[in-house]
Amino acid sequence: MKLFVNQVFTGLLVTLTATSYAFPAMGWEKLHEFEARAKAAGLGPLESRAATSKNGAEPITDACPFAGAKSALVPGPNKGPYPVPDPKCPNIHQFQAPKPGDERGPCPGTNMMANYGFISRDGLTNYEELVNAQQNMLQIGWDLAVFLAALEVSLSGNPLNDGRISIGGARPDWTNTGLLDPLLGVPGGYDKHNGFESDTSFLRKDQDVARETDGNYGFDQATWKRLIEVCESGKYPKGKEYNFDCAVEARKAQYDYSLATNDRFFFGPYQLILYGTPQFLYKTWATGDLQPNRSLAMTVYGIEEDGKGGYREAPSKLPDNWYTAPEPFTFSSGTTDIIRMYAFNPVSFGGKVDNGTFVPIDSRSLKITNGKLDDPSSNGITCLMQQLLLQESPDIVTNSPLLRVPLSSLNWAKQKTQGMFSGLGCPELTPRGLFPDDHPLVRREQSIASK
Ligand code: HEM
Repeated sequence: MKLFVNQVFTGLLVTLTATSYAFPAMGWEKLHEFEARAKAAGLGPLESRAATSKNGAEPITDACPFAGAKSALVPGPNKGPYPVPDPKCPNIHQFQAPKPGDERGPCPGTNMMANYGFISRDGLTNYEELVNAQQNMLQIGWDLAVFLAALEVSLSGNPLNDGRISIGGARPDWTNTGLLDPLLGVPGGYDKHNGFESDTSFLRKDQDVARETDGNYGFDQATWKRLIEVCESGKYPKGKEYNFDCAVEARKAQYDYSLATNDRFFFGPYQLILYGTPQFLYKTWATGDLQPNRSLAMTVYGIEEDGKGGYREAPSKLPDNWYTAPEPFTFSSGTTDIIRMYAFNPVSFGGKVDNGTFVPIDSRSLKITNGKLDDPSSNGITCLMQQLLLQESPDIVTNSPLLRVPLSSLNWAKQKTQGMFSGLGCPELTPRGLFPDDHPLVRREQSIASK
């Protein structure tokens, strides 16, 4: 029986793989069919060839509860402020710089969670750890923690195997049995471009620019210096310059800079999440008497002076004697500031094609017309986030050979965030596929993938 199932399965795979290589943009429909037939043949989640991580997160105990988050299924009960690290718990959750070989990546928040053992210190983590760590270490609200973790694991991790994900580079050894690999792809880790990791970072070069220059996607001091120039131009209150107002100006400045300098610039709806990340500085890290200034930003982002008038990368750290915020930073607080920030400068969604022209996105289901959001209200953004996380076939993603989200990943994310979006009056999720195969952005993606 097993042999028979395997034969059916392999036959199917050969057929569908051939189809999806010949017509990459049509792979989606075939994947539905493939997954349904694999399920009918009794094939469940596949075994992995590699363990998640040798280390795992350090424990949350009754004596050292932090927010008390021990299961991703329910919110941690404890509110702040409480100290991190906790002086009463000297043996756990203390700072340790990463060792050679440990994964670290583009997110200072997650790098920090690994540096304090709230997720595995080797940077190889999973959905459960990420949801608990965000709450316990940083007082991120359960709903926001679930949203961020579910989104990134479905884009760049392996949801079929306990939601494992690398906070840095790709994990080719985390593919499944090998049979599904051509369809599911390699879990790309946080470094995977155009999901959460995007152009317009405040700390790093755009990936395609880096690829063509020094190949280094890490900290870029020129990008960081541009942020200093904007925030410390004298317009913003001294000693707390890196606030919401500066984030508004700096986001627009970085968008314009990237658009002008990156031949493969892309700014899609996912990029709104990166757009919102300055909030972590003034809401999550600037607690008590701490203010969002250069010194705090350098500590938490992981930047130090190089002794020659410049800056270099360092491990992300918490300030000494740090306490969390009193209240969790919720999903709705996050979306509110994204929309406030975006409303000041409603930059266009779209990307550049080979001749350097900017092509705006049009998407009926995402409610984007000519690169602009139809409903730039808080509810509009919240519903957009739901679409991004749960919709069957995000158009730019479906048609991108670089970034495909399989149905099983979306179903997994749906299950993790069940109920989160109910009662908001978001429109029904409808299938997309709005970019035809010959759309210039699709052609651009395909030509990059074939290089
Ligand atoms: C599971 C939860 C999270 C995931 C999956 C995640 C993932 C990422 C990724 C992939 C980026 C890179 C975006 C880019 O620059 O291209 C990023 C940026 C960032 N993340 Fe996270 N993140 C998470 C939670 C957090 C938390 C809790 C904080 C802070 C409290 C944080 C702070 C930041 C900041 C400040 C940036 C922007 C860095 C920049 O401009 O270059 N993140 N995150």
